Amino acid sequence: MFSGKRIVLGVSGGIAAYKAVEICRHLVANGAHVTPIMTTGSKKFLGELTLSALASERVKSSLWEDDDPIPHTTLGQQADLILIAPATAKLIGTYAAGISNDLLTATLLASRAPVIICPAMHTEMWEHPAVQDNIRTLKNRGVFVVDPEDGQLAGGDEGKGRLAATDLIVSKVERVLGPNDLENLKILITAGGTREEIDPVRFISNRSSGKQGYAIAAAAVARGATVTLITTVEREAPPDVEIQCAESARDLQAAVMSCAKNHDIIIMAAAVADFHPSKIAHTKLKKTSSFKKIDLEPTHDFLVDLGEDKLPHQTIVGFAAETENLEKNALEKLFKKKLDLIVANDVSAPETGFAYDTNAVLLLSAETKQSIPLADKRVVAERILDAIVKIRQNDY
Ligand SMILES: Cc1cc2nc3c(=O)[nH]c(=O)nc-3n(C[C@H](O)[C@H](O)[C@H](O)COP(=O)(O)O)c2cc1C
Repeated sequence: MFSGKRIVLGVSGGIAAYKAVEICRHLVANGAHVTPIMTTGSKKFLGELTLSALASERVKSSLWEDDDPIPHTTLGQQADLILIAPATAKLIGTYAAGISNDLLTATLLASRAPVIICPAMHTEMWEHPAVQDNIRTLKNRGVFVVDPEDGQLAGGDEGKGRLAATDLIVSKVERVLGPNDLENLKILITAGGTREEIDPVRFISNRSSGKQGYAIAAAAVARGATVTLITTVEREAPPDVEIQCAESARDLQAAVMSCAKNHDIIIMAAAVADFHPSKIAHTKLKKTSSFKKIDLEPTHDFLVDLGEDKLPHQTIVGFAAETENLEKNALEKLFKKKLDLIVANDVSAPETGFAYDTNAVLLLSAETKQSIPLADKRVVAERILDAIVKIRQNDY
């Protein structure tokens, strides 16, 4: 996610300073080079060694004692992003006033990189007009603010002021660092395998885990899209994704068709059942019953409807999970369903398709064939979105 990006992580002196460790871990795990700067106050709350051990380099704090002769400008100039978590009332005030009185505030002022601040403080402090004025000033200057949450505060108090959750902060970092090439676009994504009821306790399903659909949703949000995810499975998704649940092919169809027209891009990553039982038993089928076989009938292929009714501004992407004749079968689907792009994967190949964290796919449009070799599903998601962006620019 953050490969090759240099992030300065500023930590100021509040109770939530210990949470900076978790944030740092996430950023580093996702490829960022994290340079930590701690204020003198933050060291009362968090051991410098802990952050040094988890970041990409040792903690920096001083304007005067570093090997670098001009530390106050170097870090800010090199940064792709400055993230302050937690940001105290003092830090926010000092930054808003343009005062440079330690390494962190000097770095903030000597930088043109985007800045995200994540305030954390007691409710009274957060609501104080001076703090709110400073927050407004910073927002007006283009600083991104991840607002604190309601919840338990230090000293047994409760209210607004808790540092925002780590995933919310990391997701904001993704959005700010991302290419933003999907900004102002609404994307509808489906994920997971449908469950077709046999009786109240049994169903027919498939091995789809939903991981690829969720990875596309996360990548799309990071690139600025507004994302609705209709899913049959519960997985962790970025906080900005709107989640709707569905179970059967019929549910999924109803959910998709009810909002399809409001979306610019529709990505049907869900493994929708091709068949469902003709009849659903209303009570549990007994071993002893005369029941011998389940009659199946085809589900309605609503991807065909989406292709037929496609609006001029829409891009429709289908998935083809195949075990043989991958390219031929996928191309047939592409043309039959009037899709703009089909993502074909051979689900019988090693480490690809259902349930794995990795995938290898063939992206096929009417004019182009692109092979995406085995990679993490997030990487595959980015390549699918790259292809969609190019299709929309008539460049694929
Ligand atoms: C126990 C304790 C907890 C504190 N928690 C916070 C806090 O959560 N948010 C805040 O803005 N200030 C908090 N403060 C006040 C700051 O530590 C103080 O303003 C300090 O000067 C901040 O310096 P710095 O921003 O340079 O790190 C706390 C102080 C103490 C003693």
